[in-house]
Amino acid sequence: MVRKKIAVFASGFGSNLQALIDFNTDGDLGGDIVLVFSNDLEAFALKRAKKHSIRAESIDPSGFANRQDFELEMLKILKEEKIDLIILAGYMFLLTPLIIDAYKNKILNIHPTLLPSFKGTHGIKDAFKFGVKVSGVTVHFVDAELDNGPIIMQAPVFISQDDTLEKFEKEIHKVEHKIYPQAVKLFCEDKLKINGRKVEILPE
Ligand code: GRF
Repeated sequence: MVRKKIAVFASGFGSNLQALIDFNTDGDLGGDIVLVFSNDLEAFALKRAKKHSIRAESIDPSGFANRQDFELEMLKILKEEKIDLIILAGYMFLLTPLIIDAYKNKILNIHPTLLPSFKGTHGIKDAFKFGVKVSGVTVHFVDAELDNGPIIMQAPVFISQDDTLEKFEKEIHKVEHKIYPQAVKLFCEDKLKINGRKVEILPE
């Protein structure tokens, strides 16, 4: 099987990026992270990439007349690197149909709740404040709608009554770092088959 070339898009801290890098050091994702892209020149994720000799690119969207022009620049880099899979890991800038269509069913995202509950940027806090007893993490394909595409994997995180938001947040991230590499590996091994909203995981 040909190894996939992976680009990770991240806007901030990049702990999920780190989990993916570590997974590929200790084991095998079935692909290689060859590019880390950010819309934020200061993103710590870019430093993580450089530390691991991964190409780190950032483009400031404010220098473009519109999002399409910005994404055309991104597409040039993605084509240069012959990217097969885009992984969103805390990428806080909405993709337009330009990239979504160019990489149809080849973009994954991780969301820190059990979708379709608590979509949006503050999922962890929203779930905690709502008082749910179970929340969790979702890895899904990306489509044109926010936090909406077919679900690949979910894992629960239980909230007990003496949990603080900080403790709950830590637990969510721990679970993210565990399941994102697993989902990426399944993609890289061509084991994910999309049937409408459902994602089938093919056997060995
Ligand atoms: C994660 O909680 C992820 O679910 C959300 O953004 C956060 C990114 O964290 N989409 P990090 O930058 O990977 O540490």
